[in-house]
Amino acid sequence: MKQTHINIPFQIFPDLKSLDAADAQLMEAARVATGHAYAPYSKFSVGAAIRLENGSILTGSNQENASFPAGICAERVTLSAASATFPGIAVTSMALTYINVSGTGNRPISPCGICRQTLAEYEQRFGRSIRLILGGFSGEIFLISRATDLLPFAFSSQELKQL
Ligand code: THU
Repeated sequence: MKQTHINIPFQIFPDLKSLDAADAQLMEAARVATGHAYAPYSKFSVGAAIRLENGSILTGSNQENASFPAGICAERVTLSAASATFPGIAVTSMALTYINVSGTGNRPISPCGICRQTLAEYEQRFGRSIRLILGGFSGEIFLISRATDLLPFAFSSQELKQL
């Protein structure tokens, strides 16, 4: 038996001003995108913004449905839009933020499990890491340099292949 462990490296920035200009721009875009959420049921508006390797920025937000499971998270709305609009172009960064029933939050949120799985597949498809910039509308911002780090032991297409 061998005991081991997994570490998840990430950086904490005290505020938006401390980020690189490009990352701050992405987070600003994500904040704007919260205003486009359709979240009448949860009243939790999530905004995402992604940068592609060709420099394009796309934004998205959560889109809910009266049949709750039909709703889609902001991350997957945005990744799907990127893949459909710019097929074959890798995603390099994603900023994520939210507004809840109390208003704008000052703590980061991070992608749900399904979105982590989706992010992992985008990284695998393009052979590039996706940097995650996670924050509220104020407070600390977390920077994770590889989305897959949030999903250790991820299920992947490798397992679907016949030996
Ligand atoms: N949501 C996201 O858009 N992204 C996440 O990572 C977590 C949750 C959405 C789904 C649902 O519309 C609402 O937030 C409450 O869960």
